Amino acid sequence: MWTARVFTLYPELFPGPLGIGLYKKAQEKKLWSLKVIDIRDYALDKHKTVDDTLFGGGSGMLMKADVTASALDKNISNEKERIIYLSPKGKKFDQTYAKKIQKENINIICGHFEGIDQRLLETRNIEEVSIGDFVLSGGEVGAMALIDTVVRLIPGVLGNYNSLMDETFEDNLLEYPQYTKPQKWEKKDVPDVLLSGDHAKIKGWRLDQSESITRRRRPDLWEKYKKIK
Ligand SMILES: C[S@@+](CC[C@H](N)C(=O)[O-])C[C@H]1O[C@@H](n2cnc3c(N)ncnc32)[C@H](O)[C@@H]1O
Repeated sequence: MWTARVFTLYPELFPGPLGIGLYKKAQEKKLWSLKVIDIRDYALDKHKTVDDTLFGGGSGMLMKADVTASALDKNISNEKERIIYLSPKGKKFDQTYAKKIQKENINIICGHFEGIDQRLLETRNIEEVSIGDFVLSGGEVGAMALIDTVVRLIPGVLGNYNSLMDETFEDNLLEYPQYTKPQKWEKKDVPDVLLSGDHAKIKGWRLDQSESITRRRRPDLWEKYKKIK
């Protein structure tokens, strides 16, 4: 069973969106599990201090290495388990990385304030992962995005596992446009080819659409696609 352990100062935010629908059903079927650890429980003083001012000056506070280290050390028994710190400075999260971490249990630290003491990242062999080129106020939303992406890749979670094969980023292509009933809506028709019943033609049209949208919107993916093709 794939397990995600989340270390956070705001455990009440979880499971949030991960506690409904298919995520909940998949947890009940024991396809995955979520463990949420309140970092504050590992504070060393009676005031439950988890952050402090920066050496060298500067505005804001930093999460203390000793408190988070204690939370990690007391909850992770397997030293080889991956520990991820969500950080805008990290390696960019993507579908390829999601597929990689789906094969192992993971630990995720959600930062706050100005982030976390560098020494924690170095001593615990923590990898930094970013969910995009923007700055959130905390790592929790990122943790949910990361876990959401991985959970839907686990066989048995989605009703139709095959639908994953056609999705955006498979083969470095964005997904083609899709339509459902009614056939005509606000004077707009569904493309004729989709009503033709000719599966080869539909497949070809979808590929053309995927290629065209990828070329226009994501030249970076388009280059990768062309190379592999
Ligand atoms: C206000 S941010 C800290 C930003 C940090 N001072 C910097 O400039 O890199 C607080 C926390 O939000 C989370 N966070 C913010 N942006 C993120 C992103 N793009 N990806 C992942 N986590 C992010 C991190 O856990 C971070 O420690």
